[in-house]
Amino acid sequence: MKRILVIHGPNLNLLGDRDPEHYGNDTFEAVNNQIVARAERRDFSCDIFQSNFEGAIIDKLHEARNVYDGVILNAGAYTHYSYAIRDAVEAIKIPVIEVHMSNVAARDEFRKTSVIAPVCRGSVIGFGKASYFLAVDALFEVFGGEEGWGLAKK
Ligand code: DQA
Repeated sequence: MKRILVIHGPNLNLLGDRDPEHYGNDTFEAVNNQIVARAERRDFSCDIFQSNFEGAIIDKLHEARNVYDGVILNAGAYTHYSYAIRDAVEAIKIPVIEVHMSNVAARDEFRKTSVIAPVCRGSVIGFGKASYFLAVDALFEVFGGEEGWGLAKK
């Protein structure tokens, strides 16, 4: 069984309260339950981690390299400027899928830059909570997918 980890960065613990136009009405807990349900359909075990602190996210990424087969990372606003998180993603040799609930390309100028995108396996952006579900499916593809339908290896 593949093990995956979802890392939510700053302010994502406020899902349900925070800016529903961009992030929907579901609570953080409800979204996490749905992510885990999607992962189980793919026969993955799935852990969830959230932190508002850059260093805690970096520590978790380091820890993940020996424990998990893949990571789904919504680094929140750190996406746009944290070279430290970027370097942590690059340093671990497991696939990391970048996720954003909102369409960051259609928002403020500063959100159009992702310093972590170049070191991620790929990105899922703009589908609300479904961005996480699609990222679970993306990891399924990265791990080999349906027989005969696998993605080319990076
Ligand atoms: C976000 C987009 C970021 O720009 C923002 O700072 C977030 C959430 C998203 O999921 O759309 O906190 O990563």
